[in-house]
Amino acid sequence: MNQTQTRHFLALTDLSSGELKGLIKRAIELKASQRRGEIHETLKNRTLGMIFDKSSTRTRISFETGMTQLGGHALFLSPRDTQLGRGEPIEDSARVMSSMVDIIMIRTFDHEKVEHFAQYSTAPVINALTDLLHPCQLLADMQTYFEHRGDIRGKTVTWVGDGNNMCHSYMNAAIRFGFKLNIACPEGYDPDTTILDTAGDSAEIIRDPMAAADGTDLVVTDVWASMGQEEEQALREKAFAGYQVNDALMANADKDALFMHCLPAHRGEEVSASVIDRKDSVVWDEAENRLHSQKALLEFLLLN
Ligand code: CP
Ligand code: NVA
Repeated sequence: MNQTQTRHFLALTDLSSGELKGLIKRAIELKASQRRGEIHETLKNRTLGMIFDKSSTRTRISFETGMTQLGGHALFLSPRDTQLGRGEPIEDSARVMSSMVDIIMIRTFDHEKVEHFAQYSTAPVINALTDLLHPCQLLADMQTYFEHRGDIRGKTVTWVGDGNNMCHSYMNAAIRFGFKLNIACPEGYDPDTTILDTAGDSAEIIRDPMAAADGTDLVVTDVWASMGQEEEQALREKAFAGYQVNDALMANADKDALFMHCLPAHRGEEVSASVIDRKDSVVWDEAENRLHSQKALLEFLLLN
């Protein structure tokens, strides 16, 4: 097989703006079709290998269910049970796994591991979250914004909290979808400087969350301590005090602003319980759209 022709999805920027727009359109179609009870077995007999080095609810369920709905099969591979987890080299694992399955999804710590795997895989590789990026979540978030408010081009989005994997993927989305990203993060928790530089005028750090949210169209946050940072929880609670998305902050946003959170959420920390339950909070649609947008992604990588 010719590896140069294999398309991977390791970052949102691996797809062009046009491809991403097409993918979201397809996700919206697949969702409507699923609601009508129609069967679309476009990936019959195809297998998705799912490598999880970290926990997951939404990602595992959406990929596994998505493959079932498209007529294919998904294989859950935990490091406890595979030779990869016992130290078999990444390149050997990539060659072997990709010779048998059609597409591979990886959730892990180091982003370099996913890049290394993709280099030796003859099957498309999807980044299902690394410490650096979470591009699949952005497909769902963008689909959700389009469904509720139409095109996000020219809008302002405010990120409140850690300059983490989700923040980085929002910076990539700002480039591809043409919105302005205001990042309100405390000093010491800034996003990656290379990604920030690449975003250019599309992303800006505005320390004060109130100023960053002024008149904004979408407010987004995420946990203060991501997976792998559990022991920093107490330290981070201190650093992020004042960075909670609450009703006062939402009142400073545009009257039609939406609230998003990739979940799982820590009510009373990065977001108040009242905000999650507001009618402008679209977190449940966001979670459901993981299913529809990833079905569109699987079709894009396997059939295009
Ligand atoms: N948002 C998200 O990726 O959720 P899981 O960790 O449950 O997969
Ligand atoms: N930033 C979070 C996202 C979880 C979906 C984490 O990496 O744990």
